[in-house]
Amino acid sequence: MSDSSRKPVEPYKIKSIEPIRMTSREEREQIIRRGGFNLFNVPAENVFVDLLTDSGTSAMSHFQWAGIMQGDESYAGARSYFRFDHSVRNIFGFKNVIPTHQGRAAERILFQTVVQPGQRVPSNIHFDTTRANIEVRDAEAVDLAGNAAYDPDDRSPFKGDMDVDKLKTFIQETGKDKIPLVMLTITNNSGGGQPVSLANIRAVGAVCRESGIPFFLDACRFAENAYFIQQREEGQSERSVTDIARDIFSCADGATMSAKKDALVNIGGILTLNDDDLAEKLRNNLIVSEGFPTYGGLAGRDLEAIAQGLEEVVDEAYLAHRIAQIGYLWELLDQSGVPVYGPPGGHAVYVLADRFLPHIPRERYPGQALSVALYREAGVRAVEIGGVMFAKKDAATGREIYPELELIRMAVPRRVYTLSHLEYVADALVSLYERRETIRGLKIIHQAPHLRHFTVRFEEMD
Ligand code: F0G
Repeated sequence: MSDSSRKPVEPYKIKSIEPIRMTSREEREQIIRRGGFNLFNVPAENVFVDLLTDSGTSAMSHFQWAGIMQGDESYAGARSYFRFDHSVRNIFGFKNVIPTHQGRAAERILFQTVVQPGQRVPSNIHFDTTRANIEVRDAEAVDLAGNAAYDPDDRSPFKGDMDVDKLKTFIQETGKDKIPLVMLTITNNSGGGQPVSLANIRAVGAVCRESGIPFFLDACRFAENAYFIQQREEGQSERSVTDIARDIFSCADGATMSAKKDALVNIGGILTLNDDDLAEKLRNNLIVSEGFPTYGGLAGRDLEAIAQGLEEVVDEAYLAHRIAQIGYLWELLDQSGVPVYGPPGGHAVYVLADRFLPHIPRERYPGQALSVALYREAGVRAVEIGGVMFAKKDAATGREIYPELELIRMAVPRRVYTLSHLEYVADALVSLYERRETIRGLKIIHQAPHLRHFTVRFEEMD
Protein backbone atom coordinates (compact mmCIF):
# COMPACT_ATOMS: atom_id res chain seq x y z
CA MET A 1 0.00 0.00 0.00
CA SER A 2 1.66 3.18 -1.09
CA ASP A 3 -1.32 5.39 -0.20
CA SER A 4 -1.86 5.01 3.52
CA SER A 5 -5.20 6.85 3.46
CA ARG A 6 -6.76 3.98 1.54
CA LYS A 7 -7.85 0.67 2.96
CA PRO A 8 -5.22 -2.06 2.74
CA VAL A 9 -6.49 -4.54 0.14
CA GLU A 10 -5.59 -8.22 0.53
CA PRO A 11 -2.99 -9.20 -2.10
CA TYR A 12 -4.50 -12.69 -2.43
CA LYS A 13 -7.86 -14.21 -3.21
CA ILE A 14 -9.67 -16.99 -1.41
CA LYS A 15 -9.58 -20.46 -2.94
CA SER A 16 -10.66 -22.57 -0.01
CA ILE A 17 -12.83 -21.44 2.88
CA GLU A 18 -13.47 -22.60 6.42
CA PRO A 19 -16.93 -21.64 7.72
CA ILE A 20 -17.09 -19.86 11.08
CA ARG A 21 -20.23 -19.81 13.15
CA MET A 22 -21.64 -16.92 15.11
CA THR A 23 -22.97 -18.04 18.47
CA SER A 24 -25.82 -16.26 20.23
CA ARG A 25 -25.17 -14.05 23.25
CA GLU A 26 -26.93 -16.64 25.46
CA GLU A 27 -24.73 -19.44 24.15
CA ARG A 28 -21.60 -17.41 24.78
CA GLU A 29 -22.75 -16.60 28.30
CA GLN A 30 -23.06 -20.31 29.07
CA ILE A 31 -19.77 -21.15 27.39
CA ILE A 32 -17.75 -18.52 29.23
CA ARG A 33 -19.27 -19.45 32.60
CA ARG A 34 -18.65 -23.15 31.96
CA GLY A 35 -15.04 -22.27 31.13
CA GLY A 36 -14.53 -20.38 34.41
CA PHE A 37 -14.15 -17.07 32.53
CA ASN A 38 -10.94 -18.36 30.95
CA LEU A 39 -10.81 -18.09 27.15
CA PHE A 40 -8.36 -21.00 26.91
CA ASN A 41 -11.33 -23.15 27.98
CA VAL A 42 -13.54 -21.99 25.11
CA PRO A 43 -13.75 -24.54 22.25
CA ALA A 44 -12.47 -22.84 19.10
CA GLU A 45 -15.63 -23.62 17.16
CA ASN A 46 -17.47 -21.27 19.51
CA VAL A 47 -15.15 -18.40 18.57
CA PHE A 48 -16.11 -16.17 15.65
CA VAL A 49 -12.86 -14.24 15.15
CA ASP A 50 -9.92 -15.89 16.91
CA LEU A 51 -7.11 -13.48 17.77
CA LEU A 52 -5.63 -15.64 20.52
CA THR A 53 -2.38 -16.02 18.59
CA ASP A 54 -0.68 -15.53 15.24
CA SER A 55 1.26 -18.75 15.89
CA GLY A 56 0.52 -21.79 13.75
CA THR A 57 -2.68 -20.15 12.55
CA SER A 58 -1.55 -18.93 9.11
CA ALA A 59 -3.41 -19.82 5.94
CA MET A 60 -1.10 -21.64 3.53
CA SER A 61 -0.87 -20.75 -0.14
CA HIS A 62 -1.71 -23.10 -3.01
CA PHE A 63 2.06 -23.45 -3.57
CA GLN A 64 2.48 -24.64 0.01
CA TRP A 65 -0.36 -27.15 -0.34
CA ALA A 66 1.22 -28.37 -3.55
CA GLY A 67 4.50 -28.70 -1.64
CA ILE A 68 2.70 -30.81 0.98
CA MET A 69 1.94 -33.37 -1.76
CA GLN A 70 5.59 -33.33 -2.80
CA GLY A 71 6.89 -34.03 0.70
CA ASP A 72 9.54 -36.74 0.77
CA GLU A 73 8.94 -38.81 3.89
CA SER A 74 12.25 -40.69 3.83
CA TYR A 75 13.70 -41.04 7.31
CA ALA A 76 17.15 -39.73 6.47
CA GLY A 77 18.30 -37.29 3.83
CA ALA A 78 14.83 -36.60 2.42
CA ARG A 79 14.64 -34.36 -0.64
CA SER A 80 12.35 -32.06 1.39
CA TYR A 81 15.15 -31.52 3.92
CA PHE A 82 17.49 -30.25 1.21
CA ARG A 83 14.83 -27.86 -0.06
CA PHE A 84 14.27 -26.66 3.52
CA ASP A 85 18.01 -26.30 4.08
CA HIS A 86 18.39 -24.29 0.86
CA SER A 87 15.50 -21.98 1.68
CA VAL A 88 16.65 -21.29 5.26
CA ARG A 89 20.28 -20.79 4.17
CA ASN A 90 19.20 -18.38 1.43
CA ILE A 91 17.84 -15.94 4.01
CA PHE A 92 19.64 -16.71 7.26
CA GLY A 93 23.02 -17.57 5.73
CA PHE A 94 24.30 -19.67 8.66
CA LYS A 95 26.32 -22.82 7.93
CA ASN A 96 24.21 -25.31 9.86
CA VAL A 97 20.44 -25.69 9.52
CA ILE A 98 18.54 -27.90 11.97
CA PRO A 99 14.77 -28.45 11.80
CA THR A 100 12.80 -28.74 15.06
CA HIS A 101 9.11 -29.34 15.72
CA GLN A 102 8.55 -25.79 16.96
CA GLY A 103 10.38 -22.75 18.28
CA ARG A 104 10.60 -23.84 21.90
CA ALA A 105 12.23 -27.13 20.89
CA ALA A 106 15.02 -25.14 19.20
CA GLU A 107 15.32 -23.08 22.39
CA ARG A 108 15.41 -26.14 24.65
CA ILE A 109 18.09 -27.86 22.59
CA LEU A 110 20.23 -24.73 22.41
CA PHE A 111 19.91 -23.77 26.08
CA GLN A 112 20.30 -27.33 27.38
CA THR A 113 23.58 -27.48 25.51
CA VAL A 114 25.09 -24.06 26.23
CA VAL A 115 23.48 -22.69 29.42
CA GLN A 116 24.86 -23.79 32.81
CA PRO A 117 23.21 -23.31 36.23
CA GLY A 118 23.90 -19.86 37.70
CA GLN A 119 24.51 -18.22 34.32
CA ARG A 120 22.59 -15.22 32.97
CA VAL A 121 21.12 -14.69 29.50
CA PRO A 122 20.11 -11.19 28.40
CA SER A 123 17.59 -10.27 25.68
CA ASN A 124 15.55 -7.18 24.83
CA ILE A 125 12.54 -8.93 26.40
CA HIS A 126 12.50 -12.72 26.57
CA PHE A 127 9.44 -14.46 25.24
CA ASP A 128 7.87 -16.78 27.88
CA THR A 129 9.33 -19.94 26.35
CA THR A 130 12.90 -18.64 26.07
CA ARG A 131 12.61 -17.43 29.65
CA ALA A 132 11.23 -20.80 30.80
CA ASN A 133 13.91 -22.76 28.91
CA ILE A 134 16.60 -20.66 30.60
CA GLU A 135 15.02 -20.88 34.05
CA VAL A 136 14.70 -24.69 33.95
CA ARG A 137 18.51 -24.68 33.60
CA ASP A 138 18.62 -22.76 36.93
CA ALA A 139 19.92 -19.78 35.01
CA GLU A 140 18.54 -16.25 34.87
CA ALA A 141 16.76 -14.61 31.93
CA VAL A 142 17.37 -10.85 31.98
CA ASP A 143 15.44 -8.20 29.99
CA LEU A 144 17.48 -5.22 28.76
CA ALA A 145 14.99 -3.38 26.51
CA GLY A 146 15.10 0.40 26.52
CA ASN A 147 12.61 2.26 28.74
CA ALA A 148 10.47 3.15 25.69
CA ALA A 149 9.32 -0.48 25.45
CA TYR A 150 7.40 -0.05 28.69
CA ASP A 151 5.82 3.28 27.74
CA PRO A 152 2.65 2.75 25.67
CA ASP A 153 2.55 6.43 24.69
CA ASP A 154 6.11 6.62 23.34
CA ARG A 155 5.85 6.61 19.56
CA SER A 156 9.52 5.84 18.77
CA PRO A 157 9.87 3.70 15.64
CA PHE A 158 12.06 0.96 17.16
CA LYS A 159 10.83 0.32 20.67
CA GLY A 160 12.06 -3.27 20.46
CA ASP A 161 15.70 -2.10 20.65
CA MET A 162 17.95 -3.42 23.38
CA ASP A 163 19.56 -0.71 25.51
CA VAL A 164 23.21 -1.13 24.46
CA ASP A 165 24.54 0.76 27.50
CA LYS A 166 22.58 -1.55 29.78
CA LEU A 167 24.09 -4.51 27.89
CA LYS A 168 27.65 -3.19 28.34
CA THR A 169 27.09 -2.62 32.05
CA PHE A 170 25.46 -6.04 32.34
CA ILE A 171 28.49 -7.71 30.74
CA GLN A 172 30.92 -5.80 32.99
CA GLU A 173 29.00 -6.63 36.15
CA THR A 174 28.18 -10.25 35.32
CA GLY A 175 31.45 -11.22 33.64
CA LYS A 176 31.69 -12.82 30.22
CA ASP A 177 32.08 -16.35 31.63
CA LYS A 178 28.65 -16.22 33.20
CA ILE A 179 26.96 -15.16 29.93
CA PRO A 180 26.70 -18.14 27.54
CA LEU A 181 24.91 -16.10 24.88
CA VAL A 182 22.99 -12.90 24.20
CA MET A 183 19.52 -13.15 22.60
CA LEU A 184 17.46 -10.53 20.77
CA THR A 185 13.77 -11.05 19.91
CA ILE A 186 12.71 -9.65 16.52
CA THR A 187 10.03 -8.34 16.64
CA ASN A 188 9.69 -8.01 20.39
CA ASN A 189 6.53 -9.99 21.08
CA SER A 190 6.50 -9.40 24.84
CA GLY A 191 7.01 -5.66 24.28
CA GLY A 192 4.09 -4.67 22.06
CA GLY A 193 5.34 -6.54 18.96
CA GLN A 194 7.75 -3.67 18.33
CA PRO A 195 10.59 -3.92 15.82
CA VAL A 196 14.33 -3.76 16.50
CA SER A 197 16.37 -1.43 14.27
CA LEU A 198 19.20 -2.68 12.10
CA ALA A 199 21.47 -0.18 13.85
CA ASN A 200 20.62 -1.78 17.19
CA ILE A 201 21.12 -5.32 15.89
CA ARG A 202 24.54 -4.25 14.55
CA ALA A 203 25.44 -2.55 17.83
CA VAL A 204 24.46 -5.56 19.94
CA GLY A 205 26.38 -7.82 17.53
CA ALA A 206 29.47 -5.62 17.85
CA VAL A 207 29.37 -5.64 21.67
CA CYS A 208 29.00 -9.44 21.64
CA ARG A 209 31.92 -9.85 19.24
CA GLU A 210 34.17 -7.57 21.32
CA SER A 211 33.24 -9.50 24.44
CA GLY A 212 33.54 -12.93 22.83
CA ILE A 213 29.91 -13.83 23.65
CA PRO A 214 27.78 -15.68 21.05
CA PHE A 215 24.79 -13.68 19.74
CA PHE A 216 21.54 -15.42 18.74
CA LEU A 217 18.35 -13.96 17.32
CA ASP A 218 14.87 -15.16 18.27
CA ALA A 219 13.70 -14.73 14.69
CA CYS A 220 10.02 -15.81 14.64
CA ARG A 221 8.90 -12.57 13.03
CA PHE A 222 12.07 -11.60 11.17
CA ALA A 223 10.30 -10.62 7.92
CA GLU A 224 7.89 -8.26 9.66
CA ASN A 225 10.89 -6.77 11.49
CA ALA A 226 12.87 -6.39 8.24
CA TYR A 227 9.91 -4.67 6.60
CA PHE A 228 9.72 -2.14 9.46
CA ILE A 229 13.44 -1.46 8.96
CA GLN A 230 12.86 -0.83 5.26
CA GLN A 231 9.95 1.52 6.01
CA ARG A 232 11.25 3.34 9.06
CA GLU A 233 15.05 3.29 9.26
CA GLU A 234 17.17 5.92 7.65
CA GLY A 235 19.08 4.73 4.61
CA GLN A 236 17.16 1.43 4.30
CA SER A 237 14.22 2.35 2.06
CA GLU A 238 15.91 1.37 -1.21
CA ARG A 239 16.88 -2.12 -0.05
CA SER A 240 14.81 -5.26 -0.47
CA VAL A 241 13.42 -6.99 2.60
CA THR A 242 15.48 -10.10 1.76
CA ASP A 243 18.64 -8.02 1.61
CA ILE A 244 17.84 -6.42 4.97
CA ALA A 245 17.03 -9.84 6.48
CA ARG A 246 20.39 -11.19 5.32
CA ASP A 247 22.08 -8.17 6.86
CA ILE A 248 20.26 -8.77 10.16
CA PHE A 249 21.43 -12.38 10.33
CA SER A 250 24.98 -11.52 9.28
CA CYS A 251 25.31 -9.65 12.62
CA ALA A 252 24.62 -12.82 14.64
CA ASP A 253 26.13 -16.26 15.24
CA GLY A 254 22.85 -18.09 14.96
CA ALA A 255 19.09 -17.99 15.40
CA THR A 256 16.13 -19.88 16.77
CA MET A 257 12.83 -19.52 14.97
CA SER A 258 9.28 -20.67 15.44
CA ALA A 259 8.27 -21.37 11.83
CA LYS A 260 4.65 -21.03 13.01
CA LYS A 261 4.91 -17.27 12.52
CA ASP A 262 6.92 -15.90 9.60
CA ALA A 263 7.34 -19.20 7.76
CA LEU A 264 3.55 -19.17 7.26
CA VAL A 265 2.99 -22.74 8.42
CA ASN A 266 1.02 -24.51 11.11
CA ILE A 267 3.94 -26.33 12.74
CA GLY A 268 7.74 -26.23 12.71
CA GLY A 269 10.87 -24.61 14.05
CA ILE A 270 14.42 -23.81 13.01
CA LEU A 271 17.78 -23.82 14.79
CA THR A 272 20.55 -22.41 12.62
CA LEU A 273 24.12 -21.35 13.42
CA ASN A 274 27.68 -21.07 12.17
CA ASP A 275 29.66 -22.95 14.82
CA ASP A 276 30.19 -26.53 13.52
CA ASP A 277 31.25 -28.02 16.86
CA LEU A 278 28.25 -26.60 18.64
CA ALA A 279 25.97 -27.71 15.78
CA GLU A 280 27.20 -31.28 16.26
CA LYS A 281 26.34 -31.16 19.96
CA LEU A 282 22.91 -29.71 19.17
CA ARG A 283 22.22 -32.47 16.63
CA ASN A 284 23.20 -35.08 19.22
CA ASN A 285 20.73 -33.56 21.65
CA LEU A 286 18.06 -33.31 18.92
CA ILE A 287 18.27 -37.01 18.09
CA VAL A 288 17.25 -37.96 21.64
CA SER A 289 13.88 -36.25 21.52
CA GLU A 290 13.06 -34.74 18.13
CA GLY A 291 14.32 -37.27 15.60
CA PHE A 292 17.01 -37.61 12.98
CA PRO A 293 18.67 -34.25 12.15
CA THR A 294 17.23 -34.11 8.63
CA TYR A 295 13.64 -34.07 9.89
CA GLY A 296 13.81 -32.88 13.54
CA GLY A 297 10.34 -33.95 14.60
CA LEU A 298 8.62 -32.82 11.42
CA ALA A 299 7.21 -34.67 8.43
CA GLY A 300 8.86 -34.14 5.04
CA ARG A 301 5.73 -32.32 3.93
CA ASP A 302 6.11 -29.83 6.80
CA LEU A 303 9.66 -29.07 5.63
CA GLU A 304 8.34 -28.39 2.12
CA ALA A 305 5.69 -26.02 3.48
CA ILE A 306 8.28 -24.12 5.54
CA ALA A 307 10.68 -23.85 2.58
CA GLN A 308 7.91 -22.39 0.44
CA GLY A 309 6.60 -20.17 3.26
CA LEU A 310 10.01 -18.57 3.77
CA GLU A 311 10.05 -17.61 0.09
CA GLU A 312 6.56 -16.11 0.30
CA VAL A 313 6.96 -14.19 3.55
CA VAL A 314 9.59 -11.82 2.14
CA ASP A 315 7.24 -10.81 -0.68
CA GLU A 316 6.86 -7.08 -0.19
CA ALA A 317 3.25 -6.86 -1.39
CA TYR A 318 2.39 -9.45 1.24
CA LEU A 319 4.34 -7.63 3.97
CA ALA A 320 2.95 -4.21 3.04
CA HIS A 321 -0.56 -5.58 3.48
CA ARG A 322 0.31 -7.49 6.63
CA ILE A 323 1.71 -4.46 8.42
CA ALA A 324 -1.04 -2.16 7.06
CA GLN A 325 -3.69 -4.61 8.28
CA ILE A 326 -2.42 -4.37 11.86
CA GLY A 327 -2.10 -0.58 11.50
CA TYR A 328 -5.67 -0.40 10.19
CA LEU A 329 -7.15 -2.17 13.21
CA TRP A 330 -4.98 -0.03 15.49
CA GLU A 331 -6.17 3.21 13.80
CA LEU A 332 -9.84 2.25 14.03
CA LEU A 333 -9.45 1.81 17.77
CA ASP A 334 -7.16 4.76 18.42
CA GLN A 335 -9.41 7.15 16.48
CA SER A 336 -12.38 6.09 18.61
CA GLY A 337 -10.49 6.78 21.82
CA VAL A 338 -9.87 3.13 22.77
CA PRO A 339 -6.54 3.14 24.66
CA VAL A 340 -3.99 1.15 22.65
CA TYR A 341 -0.24 0.51 22.98
CA GLY A 342 1.50 2.55 20.30
CA PRO A 343 2.76 2.59 17.70
CA PRO A 344 1.12 -0.48 16.09
CA GLY A 345 3.40 -3.51 16.10
CA GLY A 346 3.92 -6.17 13.48
CA HIS A 347 1.55 -8.96 14.40
CA ALA A 348 -0.92 -7.71 16.99
CA VAL A 349 -2.79 -4.80 18.49
CA TYR A 350 -2.44 -4.47 22.25
CA VAL A 351 -5.24 -2.73 24.21
CA LEU A 352 -4.36 -0.99 27.50
CA ALA A 353 -6.89 -2.74 29.71
CA ASP A 354 -6.15 -0.76 32.87
CA ARG A 355 -6.93 2.49 31.05
CA PHE A 356 -9.97 0.95 29.35
CA LEU A 357 -11.34 -0.17 32.73
CA PRO A 358 -10.02 2.29 35.32
CA HIS A 359 -12.77 1.26 37.76
CA ILE A 360 -11.37 -2.29 38.00
CA PRO A 361 -8.30 -2.55 40.30
CA ARG A 362 -5.33 -4.67 39.22
CA GLU A 363 -6.21 -7.40 41.74
CA ARG A 364 -9.51 -7.83 39.89
CA TYR A 365 -7.68 -8.36 36.59
CA PRO A 366 -8.92 -5.72 34.12
CA GLY A 367 -7.17 -7.47 31.19
CA GLN A 368 -8.98 -10.72 31.85
CA ALA A 369 -12.26 -8.84 32.43
CA LEU A 370 -11.86 -7.07 29.09
CA SER A 371 -11.07 -10.26 27.16
CA VAL A 372 -14.14 -11.92 28.71
CA ALA A 373 -16.29 -8.89 27.81
CA LEU A 374 -15.04 -8.95 24.21
CA TYR A 375 -15.94 -12.61 23.88
CA ARG A 376 -19.37 -12.05 25.39
CA GLU A 377 -19.98 -9.07 23.14
CA ALA A 378 -18.87 -10.47 19.81
CA GLY A 379 -17.38 -13.98 20.02
CA VAL A 380 -13.89 -12.50 19.56
CA ARG A 381 -11.02 -14.19 21.42
CA ALA A 382 -8.00 -12.18 22.55
CA VAL A 383 -5.43 -13.06 25.21
CA GLU A 384 -4.73 -11.30 28.50
CA ILE A 385 -1.12 -10.25 28.92
CA GLY A 386 -1.06 -8.73 32.36
CA GLY A 387 -1.63 -9.68 35.95
CA VAL A 388 -3.09 -13.12 35.32
CA MET A 389 -0.20 -14.16 33.09
CA PHE A 390 2.73 -12.42 34.79
CA ALA A 391 1.95 -11.51 38.43
CA LYS A 392 4.64 -12.54 40.91
CA LYS A 393 4.05 -13.27 44.59
CA ASP A 394 5.80 -11.15 47.17
CA ALA A 395 7.53 -13.71 49.37
CA ALA A 396 7.07 -11.68 52.57
CA THR A 397 3.45 -10.55 52.27
CA GLY A 398 2.06 -13.16 49.86
CA ARG A 399 0.53 -10.34 47.83
CA GLU A 400 0.68 -10.25 44.07
CA ILE A 401 3.04 -7.85 42.32
CA TYR A 402 1.71 -6.89 38.90
CA PRO A 403 3.67 -6.29 35.69
CA GLU A 404 3.96 -2.73 34.46
CA LEU A 405 1.53 -3.20 31.57
CA GLU A 406 -1.97 -4.65 31.79
CA LEU A 407 -2.87 -5.58 28.21
CA ILE A 408 -5.01 -7.69 25.99
CA ARG A 409 -3.28 -8.83 22.83
CA MET A 410 -5.24 -9.25 19.64
CA ALA A 411 -2.84 -11.20 17.41
CA VAL A 412 -3.89 -11.39 13.79
CA PRO A 413 -3.31 -14.75 12.05
CA ARG A 414 -1.53 -14.36 8.70
CA ARG A 415 -3.67 -14.36 5.52
CA VAL A 416 -6.72 -15.62 7.45
CA TYR A 417 -9.05 -12.72 8.18
CA THR A 418 -10.27 -10.00 5.84
CA LEU A 419 -10.57 -6.33 6.56
CA SER A 420 -14.26 -6.73 7.38
CA HIS A 421 -13.36 -9.18 10.17
CA LEU A 422 -11.05 -6.55 11.62
CA GLU A 423 -13.72 -3.86 11.30
CA TYR A 424 -16.09 -6.18 13.12
CA VAL A 425 -13.55 -6.56 15.96
CA ALA A 426 -13.01 -2.79 16.15
CA ASP A 427 -16.76 -2.09 16.22
CA ALA A 428 -17.20 -4.55 19.08
CA LEU A 429 -14.41 -2.99 21.14
CA VAL A 430 -15.57 0.56 20.48
CA SER A 431 -19.09 -0.35 21.50
CA LEU A 432 -17.73 -1.96 24.69
CA TYR A 433 -15.68 1.13 25.39
CA GLU A 434 -18.83 3.23 25.32
CA ARG A 435 -20.33 0.96 28.00
CA ARG A 436 -17.09 0.23 29.83
CA GLU A 437 -18.39 0.95 33.35
CA THR A 438 -20.74 -2.05 33.03
CA ILE A 439 -17.77 -4.46 32.83
CA ARG A 440 -17.00 -6.22 36.11
CA GLY A 441 -13.79 -7.49 37.66
CA LEU A 442 -12.90 -11.12 38.34
CA LYS A 443 -11.70 -13.10 41.32
CA ILE A 444 -9.50 -16.19 41.02
CA ILE A 445 -11.09 -19.33 42.49
CA HIS A 446 -8.65 -21.94 41.16
CA GLN A 447 -5.06 -21.71 39.91
CA ALA A 448 -2.02 -23.83 39.12
CA PRO A 449 1.42 -23.04 40.61
CA HIS A 450 3.04 -22.32 37.19
CA LEU A 451 1.75 -20.77 33.95
CA ARG A 452 -1.57 -20.31 35.67
CA HIS A 453 -3.23 -18.41 32.81
CA PHE A 454 -3.85 -21.64 30.88
CA THR A 455 -6.00 -23.28 33.55
CA VAL A 456 -7.02 -20.53 35.99
CA ARG A 457 -10.73 -20.20 36.82
CA PHE A 458 -12.55 -17.09 38.00
CA GLU A 459 -15.81 -15.90 39.37
CA GLU A 460 -17.30 -12.54 38.51
CA MET A 461 -17.47 -9.74 41.10
CA ASP A 462 -20.73 -7.90 41.75
N1 F0G B 1 9.74 -16.78 20.54
C1 F0G B 1 8.76 -15.87 20.34
C2 F0G B 1 9.10 -14.43 20.20
C3 F0G B 1 7.41 -16.30 20.26
O1 F0G B 1 6.46 -15.39 20.05
C4 F0G B 1 7.12 -17.68 20.39
C5 F0G B 1 5.74 -18.15 20.35
C6 F0G B 1 8.18 -18.58 20.58
C7 F0G B 1 9.47 -18.09 20.65
C8 F0G B 1 7.96 -20.06 20.75
O2 F0G B 1 7.60 -20.64 19.56
O3 F0G B 1 5.32 -21.60 19.97
O4 F0G B 1 6.75 -22.42 18.08
O5 F0G B 1 7.32 -22.99 20.41
N2 F0G B 1 4.74 -17.40 20.48
C9 F0G B 1 3.32 -17.74 20.42
C10 F0G B 1 2.48 -16.52 20.71
C11 F0G B 1 2.94 -18.94 21.20
O6 F0G B 1 1.24 -16.67 20.83
O7 F0G B 1 3.02 -15.42 20.80
P1 F0G B 1 6.69 -21.99 19.50
